[in-house]
Parts: sequence; structure tokens; C-alpha cells
Amino acid sequence: MKTIDDLAVAGKRVLVRADLNVPLDDGRVADDGRIRASLPTLTALTSRGARVIVCAHLGRPKGKPDPRYSLAPVAARLGELLGRPVKLAADTVGPSAQAEVAALRPGGLVMLENLRFNAGETSTDDVDRGFFADRLAELAEEYVADGFGAMHRKHASVYDVALRLPCAAGYLVQAEVVALRRLTGDIRRPYVVVLGGAKVADKFSAIASLITTADQILVGGAMAFPFLAAKGYKVGTSLLETGQVDIAAGYLEQAARAGTEIVLPSDVIVAAEPALDAPHEVVAADAIPEHQMGLDIGPESAALFANTIRPAGTVFWNGPMGVFELPRFAGGTKAVARALTVSDAFTVVGGGDTGAAIRALGFPDAMFAYVSTGGGASLEFIQGKTLPGLAALEEE
Ligand code: 3PG
Repeated sequence: MKTIDDLAVAGKRVLVRADLNVPLDDGRVADDGRIRASLPTLTALTSRGARVIVCAHLGRPKGKPDPRYSLAPVAARLGELLGRPVKLAADTVGPSAQAEVAALRPGGLVMLENLRFNAGETSTDDVDRGFFADRLAELAEEYVADGFGAMHRKHASVYDVALRLPCAAGYLVQAEVVALRRLTGDIRRPYVVVLGGAKVADKFSAIASLITTADQILVGGAMAFPFLAAKGYKVGTSLLETGQVDIAAGYLEQAARAGTEIVLPSDVIVAAEPALDAPHEVVAADAIPEHQMGLDIGPESAALFANTIRPAGTVFWNGPMGVFELPRFAGGTKAVARALTVSDAFTVVGGGDTGAAIRALGFPDAMFAYVSTGGGASLEFIQGKTLPGLAALEEE
């Protein structure tokens, strides 16, 4: 894989695909982890005299401009971190982007608006995607892939552009690949995987493959409810998608056959809604009241998870254990984070939300062996799947 050190970038227009999909709070960046992770590549390119065009997505807008998903707060935060304002084009490949790019000087940097404001970005039709990729490629002379968190998406800016321009991996992508490879080869055991978070549909299928590699899989967050339902427990109004319960039942059987332990919460913190002052209580996992929803794992489960993590040789953690943004539902996530920091294991934390959670709860990245910016991407990588973004770099 070619790296940015192999590219002659001085004076060249270089399109950098970053993953700047960060949480916002009241129009401001709530966690800038992914922006900070992009800095080494961006500063290396500008200091080498490249004309840098940064492109990224934010959230999941529906293929047309939507001010709620503007990258403006991200450009503002990037400017603060770089110590100089960052201009944001008003469009992705339109007149504003073209004018801003034409005005770029060596060492300059401009950001394009949210790539997902253009339906071609995420289209499953190769022609539609290719058309948008052509327009993106016309803006630049070289392409740098540094948005690891989006590399599992076969999107125009991730996959197709890389086939149209001389390309290379940025420093973040290189670091991610080196760290995550340690979870695909000769893994130090016991290998404990902790799964949680709310994006259950995105991650659920990973469990089938993790059962074949992990020794124990600890399941918290919204991910736990299909499993609890599969055991016949009532889960009240907890997040639960129909169809997941049967699949969870299948995973429990598969795990039993493989000798892999799936560890579920034995208690849950419930409330009527995920609100700051919602009255809440701890209940047994098989006694969630009808009109209540599980919003965190309970203290007994937190202790069980922590005790399983401490003696591990390797831990991969993806997804918070509860609604960590609200203090009363942050205990489980905190307990898991603490257990990772005191364990001698090779500890990898993956995902935008999980990275944001540890930092918000006072656990800096340096307390873990590696904090991946990729959620779905890191999960697919450790399953040995081919990430389209990485495949495109190899094809070049
Ligand atoms: C992420 O947050 O995992 C990445 O930025 C990818 O976002 P997506 O799941 O909306 O494609």
C-alpha cells in the first residue's frame, strides 16, 4: 500500500477523504477525536506545499443539502485545531467548490460540504457513483485515503475516486491497519470482545464471525435486548428490531456449539425514557417492566463484565453499554472502560461513539493500547472482511 510519503505533493491539488463524522451538541462539535486523528495527514500535506481539499460526510442526510448536516461546525473546529480558519465550500463539486479549489495556494486547505448532500456519494448504482466520483476527481490531481471509519462503505469518495487518481493511504489509515492487524492473526488469549451501542443492525452480523474467534463475547447496550428476548425475557419498551430475536437465538446456539461464551447482562437500569432526570431503577434482566426501557447495564452486570475483562490477553470493545451521555446511565460504560485500563491485555477501543464515550467519561486515549476511529470499519476489518476503501488502494 502506497503512503503519502510516496506521493510528490508539492504544489499539487490533493483530495483527502477524512472521516469527520463527529457528534454535535447544539451546533458545536461535542467530541473532536476524529478531527484530531486527521491532523497528522493534513498538516504533513500542507507543510509539504500541497493544495489540500478535505472531503468528508456527517450523519446520514438523504442525498440532498440539509443544513442540519452541514460540515460548518466541523470546519470551525478543524480551523481551531490547525490554528487558522478553514474555508468551507457551499457545495461538494459545484461552483463554490470549484472556485475555492481554484483559489487554493500551496500549503492552503479548503473543505467541501457534506459529501452525502449528493446522492451519487452513497448510490449502489456504479454509474451514478462513478459520475459523482468523476466530478470529485476533476477537482484534484492526487487522492489520499485517510477516512478509516468510512472505508467499509463502497461510496464514491471512498472507493471510486481512488480508482481515478494517483492515490495513497494517509497516516491515520496506516496506523489503523497496523493496530487492527493484531486482532486478525495470532491473538493473545483469552480474547474478549465487548459489544454494545445503538447501531445494532449495522453490527449484528459480526457476531457470527466473532463467535469463531473470541473466547468470550460480552453484550451490553441495545445489542443485549435481542438476546434477552431470545431467552424468553420481556424487554419492555427497550430498543428492539423484529427479526433480530431469532438471529440472536441462532447465535446463542452457535456459541454453545463453538464453546464461546456469550455473556449477557444479569441486571439492567430502566426508566420510562432516556431523560436527564428520568426516575430509574435497577431490575433483573428477566424482570424489565412493561412500560420501561433498559438504558444501561446494571451494577451486577458491570462487575461481571469487568471481572471477565481483567484477566484477558486481548480485548476489543465496540459500543457503549448504555446512554452514557446521561450520567445516571453511564455506569456500565465507565466500568468497562476502567476494566480495560487496569487490564494487562492488548486493548482496542473501536468506534466514533465509543471513543467519544471514553473521553467524555474521563479516560484519555493514551490509557488504551489503541483507540480506533472506525466503528463498523474496525469491526469488519477484524472479521477479515475486505474494506472497499482499502481494496481500492491496493488496486491502484
Ligand atoms: C461511522 O460513524 O461509523 C462512520 O463515519 C461511517 O458512518 P455511516 O455508518 O453513516 O456510514
